[in-house]
Amino acid sequence: MWEAKDIVSDGVEIGPTGRPLRVIPAPPPVVPADEALIVAMCNQKGGVGKTTTTINLGAALAEYGRRVLLVDLDPQGALSAGLGVAHHDLELTVHNLLVGGRAAPSDVLLNTKIDGLDLLPSNIDLSAAEIQLVNEVGREHTLGRALAPLLGQYDYVLIDCQPSLGLLTVNALACADGVIIPMECEYFSLRGLALLTDTVDKVRDRLNRRLVLSGIVGTMFDARLLHSRQVMARVVEVFGDLVYDTVINRTVRFPDASVAGEPITTWAPKSGGAEAYRAMAREVIHRSGR
Ligand SMILES: Nc1ncnc2c1ncn2[C@@H]1O[C@H](COP(=O)(O)OP(=O)(O)OP(=O)(O)O)[C@@H](O)[C@H]1O
Ligand SMILES: [Mg+2]
Repeated sequence: MWEAKDIVSDGVEIGPTGRPLRVIPAPPPVVPADEALIVAMCNQKGGVGKTTTTINLGAALAEYGRRVLLVDLDPQGALSAGLGVAHHDLELTVHNLLVGGRAAPSDVLLNTKIDGLDLLPSNIDLSAAEIQLVNEVGREHTLGRALAPLLGQYDYVLIDCQPSLGLLTVNALACADGVIIPMECEYFSLRGLALLTDTVDKVRDRLNRRLVLSGIVGTMFDARLLHSRQVMARVVEVFGDLVYDTVINRTVRFPDASVAGEPITTWAPKSGGAEAYRAMAREVIHRSGR
């Protein structure tokens, strides 16, 4: 575990990002929002913690009383599986919201075991959507249209994107207020960030003026490795305050929680991983003001 007290410079505690630790206030009581804030969890690099962050940030926001909808926008269905949903057998999924007869969102919506945390699940059916949507008018806005009827019921909608910048991911960016980039703390992660931020800029220019880069969260951090700390320092140098103070340590408890089909916040509520996602949730609430 990263111990902040490990590094003290001029009496100031330095956090894993290399910056002095800031105190993030406890979240204020919920004032239900009129419309949910939509956040896309996005990184075209695979296996960097997008799905893990979506599940656990979502669960932590729900613990703080926020109403949260998770959207599985990856045909692999890892988000659905990670919440214990037998997604292969589902009749109705996000795919049915996007193409064909267009199911009602309420028919696709599932409640999870976590109070305040709902899910729009997916499975491999969604892999056909990229091709099926190609000839649609306004194809990039299909997801936005599908989610619109639900926005009044939630404070946050978190969309788990697949590891590509194809049409499904562009649909997420085209309806989102913000993008959170989970980034694995290793050198090659830095390379893909420029392409990703370019894509975010293009979508803002062409499709969605509201879209902002909300933040970057370091994942799979290993405080014992100089390498991990150097990557975080470099990201902070480039992206400054966009980088969350919270970093997520590498621990086998995340894959274990996925196998159990639960967020780490309920599967191992006192673990460092659960606490880290609660800290991230406090930062997200603090930054978004809701
Ligand atoms: N902090 C962590 N420490 C250790 N393992 C982690 C951590 N975060 C995620 N993992 C594990 O790494 C693997 C990839 O994580 P995850 O599925 O969240 O990434 P992803 O970016 O969604 O991947 P994909 O691009 O395939 O959708 C999973 O097995 C997950 O359990
Ligand atoms: Mg994933």
